[in-house]
Amino acid sequence: MEPDRDRAERYRELRVRLGGLLDGCPGPVAAMASTAALLHDELPPAFWVGFYLPRPDGSLVVGPYQGPLACQILPAGRGVCGKVYESGRSEVVPDVHAFAGHIACDPRSRSEIVVPVRRGGEVIAVLDLDSDRVDAFDEVDRENLEAVARIVEPCL
Ligand code: SME
Repeated sequence: MEPDRDRAERYRELRVRLGGLLDGCPGPVAAMASTAALLHDELPPAFWVGFYLPRPDGSLVVGPYQGPLACQILPAGRGVCGKVYESGRSEVVPDVHAFAGHIACDPRSRSEIVVPVRRGGEVIAVLDLDSDRVDAFDEVDRENLEAVARIVEPCL
């Protein structure tokens, strides 16, 4: 078996399903909630899936998510999410303990991926997934989650 091929196929199906769910845009909260629920159900390595949204002072506030209770506010420029919000570039973090400035909302988190949701040149949200396994996410996840971000973006 080719695990990456299986995963890519799983993502392909997930993207088609998400496209159908968000067709016509149910509203921003519903779009983010449905996305988080679908990813959480379909991607077992992730025990937490959710969105953080920017506030005027540059901090991030948690949006719809699935998983254990998470930090509500992330200070401006801090953590993996803050870095992605400021840079506009995705981060794949194979070992959160090796990432300077990582914010541990849950001690179970061992690896993480964060992708920006962009509109034009602006980052309007970040999508964050946490796993209790080291090195749970890779380029297949990055490419597909960036595609997921593009599906959600028009609904935010
Ligand atoms: N670990 C993140 C904070 C959010 S939680 O993982 C849900 C970070 O360093 O930005």
